[in-house]
Amino acid sequence: MALLVSSWSNGVQSVPQDYVMPPERRPGDFVSVCKDIPVINLQNDRSEIVQQILKACQEFGLFQVVNHGVSEELMADMRNLYDEFFNMPIEDKLSVYSESFGKGCTLYTSGLNYAKEDFHYWKDTLKHGCLPLEEHSPSWPDKPARYREEVGRYVVEVRKMAFNILDIIGEGLGLNKGYFNRVSQEQAMAINHYPPCPDPSLAMGIGGHTDPNLITFLQQDQYGLQIQKDEKWMGIDPIPNAFVVNLGHQLKIISNDTLKSAEHRGVTNSTASRTSIVTFFGPNPGLPVLIEPAKELVTSSNPQVFKSFQYNDFISNYMAFIRKPLPRDGTPLDLYRL
Ligand code: OGA
Ligand code: NI
Repeated sequence: MALLVSSWSNGVQSVPQDYVMPPERRPGDFVSVCKDIPVINLQNDRSEIVQQILKACQEFGLFQVVNHGVSEELMADMRNLYDEFFNMPIEDKLSVYSESFGKGCTLYTSGLNYAKEDFHYWKDTLKHGCLPLEEHSPSWPDKPARYREEVGRYVVEVRKMAFNILDIIGEGLGLNKGYFNRVSQEQAMAINHYPPCPDPSLAMGIGGHTDPNLITFLQQDQYGLQIQKDEKWMGIDPIPNAFVVNLGHQLKIISNDTLKSAEHRGVTNSTASRTSIVTFFGPNPGLPVLIEPAKELVTSSNPQVFKSFQYNDFISNYMAFIRKPLPRDGTPLDLYRL
C-alpha cells in the first residue's frame, strides 16, 4: 500500500531517486496550452460537426467536445466521487489494491509492472471493466458507498456519447451508420490520480504513448495532458465539462491511415493534485475480433496500408512492446504494415 504515490507523497520536499526520470524522459521545455486543438460543440449543425471532427481526426487525432450529452451534474458527481476515493484512508482501498496492474478491478501505482520498472511514474490508477454492469460492478470499490450507482450511470451516458461520436466519425469517412459497433463492445475505465509533485520538471505522470484501443474519452479539470504533433508537445486546455477525445491505434488502422492516433502523455504540477477519468472503447480482447482497414477506404489511390489481424494478437504484441526498456525502436503498428 505504501507504494501508492498518494500514500507517501504528501509533504515530501524532493522527488525520490526512483522517480527522477533520466533527462530524455522528463517533461522538457515549458509546453503551453495549444488553442488550435479543436473544441467541437455537438449541438451545432450536423454536417458542420461531421466536417470539424473529420478534420480534427486527420490533423491531430484528438479533439475536445462540449454539449456532448453527458450531464454536468454527473461529471461533477464523478469528480467528487474520485476526490473522495483517492483521499480515503488506506484501509478503505485495500480490497482493490494490487502491487501491479492485473485483471479485474485494480488500484495500482505507476506503470504496468512496478517491480520491473527502472523509474516510476508519479501516478496511481484505479482501473476496471464496465459492461455488462452485472458482470463488472461487483468488483468495483465498495467505498464510497455510492460508487456503483454513480459510475453505473456514467458508464451508460458515456457510452451514448461515444457511439454518437463514432457514428459522426464513420459518416465523415463515408462508412455506414453503426460501422464501429463491432469493434467498440469493450468499455473500460482508468482513473488516474497525480498527486502534487515537489519538482514536476524531474518526474513524469504518464509517459508518451498511443492508446491501443479504438477511441478514448477523458474527463479532467486540471492541466497536465499533452499531445505530440510534428515532433512538438502541445498542452490540452482543461475545459470544464468537456471531454477530450483521442483516437487509438485501431481507428488509425481501420481508417487505412487516413486518421491519426494521438501520442500523448501527462505531466505533474507542484500545487494541485490532478485526476483524469478515462473511458476506453475497443474490441473485446477476449473474443476473436478481426481488424482490418475498412474495404470502403481501400482504393487504387489509397492502397491497403495494414494487414488484417486478430485484436487479441495485437494486444499481446502491444503489451510486449510497451514492456521493452526505453528507448524503443519503431511502434506497435510496425508488425501490421503491408
Ligand atoms: C491513459 C492516459 C492521460 C491522463 O490513461 O491512457 O493517457 O491525463 N491518461 O491521465
Ligand atoms: Ni492514454
